[in-house]
Amino acid sequence: ERNMWAQAKQATFAQLTGSGFAVKNLKLPPDFVWGAATAAYQIEGGASQDGKGKSIWDIYSHLEPSRTNGENADITCDHYNRIDEDVKLMKSLGMDTYRFSMAWSRIIPQGGRHDPVNEAGISFYNRLIDALLAHDITPSVTLYHWDVPQALYDRYKAFLNTTEFRADYERYARLCFTRFGDRVKSWVTFNEPYIISIFGHLNGSLAPGHCLEASTDTKTEPWRVGHTIILSHASVVQIYANEFQLSQNGKISIVLNGHFYEPHDATKKADIDAAQLRLEFYIGWFGDPIFLGKDYPASMKEYLGARLPSFTPEDLKLLKDTYSINGFYGMNHYSTKFVRQLTTPAEEDDWTRNIEESSVNNKGEEIGPASSMPWLRIAPGGFRKMLNWVWDRYRLPILVTENGCPCPGEADLRVAIDDQFRQRYIGLYLDSISQAIYEDGVKVEGYYVWSLMDNFEWSSGYGPRYGIVHVDFDTLKRTPKNSAYYLQTTFQERRKDV
Ligand code: NOJ
Repeated sequence: ERNMWAQAKQATFAQLTGSGFAVKNLKLPPDFVWGAATAAYQIEGGASQDGKGKSIWDIYSHLEPSRTNGENADITCDHYNRIDEDVKLMKSLGMDTYRFSMAWSRIIPQGGRHDPVNEAGISFYNRLIDALLAHDITPSVTLYHWDVPQALYDRYKAFLNTTEFRADYERYARLCFTRFGDRVKSWVTFNEPYIISIFGHLNGSLAPGHCLEASTDTKTEPWRVGHTIILSHASVVQIYANEFQLSQNGKISIVLNGHFYEPHDATKKADIDAAQLRLEFYIGWFGDPIFLGKDYPASMKEYLGARLPSFTPEDLKLLKDTYSINGFYGMNHYSTKFVRQLTTPAEEDDWTRNIEESSVNNKGEEIGPASSMPWLRIAPGGFRKMLNWVWDRYRLPILVTENGCPCPGEADLRVAIDDQFRQRYIGLYLDSISQAIYEDGVKVEGYYVWSLMDNFEWSSGYGPRYGIVHVDFDTLKRTPKNSAYYLQTTFQERRKDV
């Protein structure tokens, strides 16, 4: 993120054994489900196998290898050629469900509504879905996890053309419901719209990176991208409800990510306000239109003025008609940060420059021990507050669609396999879910660990390893880490009816 000040010194793993970080192994409901999550570009490989078209990631990682640690995902985990092995692995670890994404460019290589369908791509996902079901693992499908067909970017800059994108995305979604919806009952339209908009179109650390070109208007484009996503989501939710719900009886929603934010100085009103504002800019941006059927949060409208697109009366009607159809709130959550306000809105109209984020507060206290990513720290208290914040605002059952971490020192294979840091992180975050459910009355229905296996971590390439299964990228051998067995046993224990 921008505006990160003073990198906190990292707490050692030994400090984790302090009383604040003891796992309590608290109970979870017997019908609570767990599984792992992945995304197509990060694990599939088979970059041009069987007629797959190129996505913006295929292009971005080759055009500017330095932006991806010199790496790409042409082969990555080669999941495309190993679904039987990978599904058996999930089964052996006792997973109830598996969240994966479909590569739009595998299904419609050129992406557009008039472009041909690639039956080989459809058949790959059919085989995957059937293998999962044969092993009693419930599939949850994300239609879009960052890999828009390059052809649509070349034609009209993808998300920057709301009308064109929406029409093409509707066709893609309708095709997926038609071909897979008899067996897939859980759908996610978009993964992390905040990241698509800000990282893809404001700071350029993710594809398409177009904002790095001089001609780009970064003052408006990220907000236009967000607008396109909200309207495309709502249209597709309406399509599902009108054309498929009756016969297929599934659930559909979107996945929003967000750190939780604590005030840098808990005694300062400006910092307390900054934390709330940050959450509204992160989550309310998408959550209010999508889950409340309302306009953007007032705070965003005030800050961004005309830079924020406005909803037409017709758009607002669509949002009102569809918000209650969303069947769950998909939450990707990893960590918590402190935030403070630097100037008053009058002095600085750009909110990204108006706040600073850090892992340390004004007293020099760290939010928690750091993983191998400095921002990703063990902060289970913030997770519990996040679950409450979302529940209070949207009152929807929450599915934790991603949570996990890479471990410090994991370049050493022994540390990677005996991943105590991750086990502690997961154990504590599951305790937070339990507390949110039983002590706070929040509805949480399931948990997906990010990720099933080590994979291509976007701009960080193969550096950080988020998997509960280790992948040797030379041999492609999969080896479950201790956290995989930890998850299996902790869910058995925690879900026991007592
Ligand atoms: C968010 C994204 O959805 C996923 O693709 C990414 O690998 C993880 N979080 C970890 O950064």
